[in-house]
Amino acid sequence: MGKCKVAFVGLGYRGTIHLKNTMLSERAEIVALCDLDQALLLQSVDLCQENGYVVDFYTDFHKMCEQLAGQMDAVIISASWQQSLKIAKTFIAKQIYVGLEVTVVGSVAECVQMYEFTKQHGDHLFVLENVCYRQDVMAINNMVKAGVFGEIVHAQCGYKHDLRPVLFGSEKLKFGNGATGEAAWRTPYYLDQNADLYPHHGLGPICTMLGIGYQNYFTSITSFATKGIGIATYLKDLGGEHHPYLDLSFSLGDVITSVLQTSNGQTVVVHHDILSPRPYSLGFTLQGNKGIWEEHAQSVICLQEHHQEHRWQEAEQVYEPYIDSLWRVNEEAAKKSARHQMDYIMLIDFLDTVLKKSKPRYGVLDWAIWSMITPLSARSIERGNQKIPFPKIVEYEHRVTAAIF
Ligand SMILES: NC(=O)c1ccc[n+]([C@@H]2O[C@H](COP(=O)([O-])OP(=O)(O)OC[C@H]3O[C@@H](n4cnc5c(N)ncnc54)[C@H](O)[C@@H]3O)[C@@H](O)[C@H]2O)c1
Repeated sequence: MGKCKVAFVGLGYRGTIHLKNTMLSERAEIVALCDLDQALLLQSVDLCQENGYVVDFYTDFHKMCEQLAGQMDAVIISASWQQSLKIAKTFIAKQIYVGLEVTVVGSVAECVQMYEFTKQHGDHLFVLENVCYRQDVMAINNMVKAGVFGEIVHAQCGYKHDLRPVLFGSEKLKFGNGATGEAAWRTPYYLDQNADLYPHHGLGPICTMLGIGYQNYFTSITSFATKGIGIATYLKDLGGEHHPYLDLSFSLGDVITSVLQTSNGQTVVVHHDILSPRPYSLGFTLQGNKGIWEEHAQSVICLQEHHQEHRWQEAEQVYEPYIDSLWRVNEEAAKKSARHQMDYIMLIDFLDTVLKKSKPRYGVLDWAIWSMITPLSARSIERGNQKIPFPKIVEYEHRVTAAIF
């Protein structure tokens, strides 16, 4: 296989990881870089030069697209939520593969519109949802497909991560204009919205395991919010009783819980829990009539044949035979990668998709379904925890069970 030509928009935290992993993969020529922030941009240009890549660089993604559209196969977008879809559409319209970092939207209409736009222009959106590529997640999914858990009845997942140091910084409290990284663009969402503002990491894997968007679909969502005290606690602890941000009224509850129902008679509970002191966890549970997987601090499994003892087994021992071939082939290289190994495995899948000009494993339909949780949970909470019917996108019910999984 030859090399594909890849450009990057957004070279902050995530963009830099993807850039380094792309260099490591040796599957791509890096042709251009773009970031609004000149200093970050030049840092990445230097990194490319040190590694033997001669790149064009831009602060305007439109200009980059206009000048280089015929000379690139793919672009990796790791920008703010406000900017990402606009950037993605510019490249999708030119039939360039777009690797899109986790992006949150404000309305169902935006999801549907993005879906229709992408389909119209050739279906080149590849969702960079890295947790879908975690070794245990892929292996558990292979076990589900092999019927090891029997018929699945229930799942749980969530984004449980104390994000307050990211949202405000941990020394000088600051967000919005003048702040750095995600504090500059992400924190204002929590002022305005009481919703699950990051469903993808938990829901992507669970939707894969349940075949959502294939022969199964969500039928309803009901969401609940606790009161919000985590931000004020953090601000007081670090900035004192009179910190000016304490006058602001943040809308987000500390824990958002959504209960989804599926057309196959299952329930899925999704948590968004980012404002309390707690270690990171995605809190996976997958429960069938022949076994259960749980991953909180520890990943454990109990299959029917061991159930007499009512004891958990360490998950890794059980899922080892089901480890995905993407991992078997690429694990050694992944060990040298920039951050989590799953990021490298995902990147390999993205670059191979581009090289083979094939259909993305996770495409715009998946992105739209996962992303709808944000506006739908907001609507349910706003209406006093009303059960909201889950919208269907055209193709939703008709996608056949794909051979790809
Ligand atoms: N998968 C994961 O584990 C994970 C983790 C963190 C963030 N993310 C996602 O990655 C994306 C980026 O997050 P981040 O932490 O890297 O943010 P960041 O703030 O560190 O970087 C974003 C960069 O995008 C640039 N940018 C914004 N608009 C632009 C535009 N119009 N043109 C060019 N550059 C532009 C900014 O200048 C900034 O350098 C977000 O969608 C976020 O949700 C994913």
